[in-house]
Amino acid sequence: MKPYFSFQWHITDECDQRCKHCYIFSGGDHICLQSMTWQQMQDTFYNCLDFCEVYQRQPYFYLTGGDPILHPDFWRLLELFHEHDIPFTIMGNPFHLTGAVCQRLKALGCQKYQLSIDGMKETHDWFRKPGSFTCTLEKIQTINQAGLRSVVMTTVSKQNCQEVPGIIDAVVAAGANVFAFSRYVPSGGELDTTLSPQEYRALLSVCDRKFREYEAAGCETYFNKKDHLWTLYEYETGTFTIPGYACDGMIYGGCNCGNCHITILPTGDIYACRRVAESKVGNVFEDRLADLWITNMEAYRNYDAFSKCSRCKLQQFCRGCPAVAKGYTGDFYGDDPQCWASEENGLLTPKTEENEHESCSA
Ligand SMILES: C[S@@+](CC[C@H](N)C(=O)[O-])C[C@H]1O[C@@H](n2cnc3c(N)ncnc32)[C@H](O)[C@@H]1O
Ligand code: SF4
Ligand code: SF4
Repeated sequence: MKPYFSFQWHITDECDQRCKHCYIFSGGDHICLQSMTWQQMQDTFYNCLDFCEVYQRQPYFYLTGGDPILHPDFWRLLELFHEHDIPFTIMGNPFHLTGAVCQRLKALGCQKYQLSIDGMKETHDWFRKPGSFTCTLEKIQTINQAGLRSVVMTTVSKQNCQEVPGIIDAVVAAGANVFAFSRYVPSGGELDTTLSPQEYRALLSVCDRKFREYEAAGCETYFNKKDHLWTLYEYETGTFTIPGYACDGMIYGGCNCGNCHITILPTGDIYACRRVAESKVGNVFEDRLADLWITNMEAYRNYDAFSKCSRCKLQQFCRGCPAVAKGYTGDFYGDDPQCWASEENGLLTPKTEENEHESCSA
């Protein structure tokens, strides 16, 4: 089986929410909402297939928006995936999901449907809109009953970090198949950006305990430790050890940016990562993806340029979240603001003229 390559494809900005933290609307909700035409969608699809043919990869699409179901050619695109037997996940909103819609998604090859929960009822509805929390939890069963896997994602910031344990209880009670969280990337919105490394470590500790308790009780929700700082946490707590083969210096884990993932926006702009502002590397209507992967993506694979990670024992497995680093520091290779690794806890080698020079040359 060929290795997967994932395309996060935003077919439309159309959305029936205007979330406070959303990177799409952070410039204000007056922005011009973009959607691809049907011709552009077909061109994009075949450009992605060509890429996978050239690099011998198996395509996997994360179809999203906005809310992708609001695109007038949403179902037509899914028929195209189905014709080509391409697996995919939808990342969307709960509002237009019915039993019949979910069954149709399943019949066309959809594997997972991802929803967002960003706090308990009051906080979530403040971030998103009134009624959104209850509707989202209700639709988990609608998704499950159609045989799709339900995934819940939380975007963690200082504003909602205290509520994450309660969110875990709520999504487990609602029967979600998968739960994960990632961190807020400052994108010009109005959220508090002062979440400290110690506060974030404390959150991972509480969640870890909760995940273990649920697992021991036979809970069927899979807790996806998506944030790469889990590797740091698990290294410290003895659950992760650096394997012997890592002495070869290769990259084995951590952020996929520049490796097996790209994002395509409704304008056709190709981003190394949707969360990394100004990470445009081309345009899918003008460029052959297979060509720009070599020429324009190299800037995201300079692993020695990480200002802090290049001195860290866990560099081959973690590298934190460069999108969060970029959002806080303006530098993709800057220090992850929630990483607590230090020289004192034995993870970082001391700065030398040589490694300082490396990070400056990024
Ligand atoms: C853009 S939304 C599209 C799918 C759907 N509308 C939703 O909200 O789940 C995909 C994910 O990106 C997250 N997101 C949006 N803006 C973000 C930001 N500035 N930092 C981190 N995550 C963000 C959302 O919370 C959501 O989980
Ligand atoms: S629902 Fe999703 S796409 Fe719409 S504003 Fe919220 S985060 Fe953005
Ligand atoms: S320094 Fe980088 S690689 Fe090391 S733990 Fe922090 S984010 Fe991860």
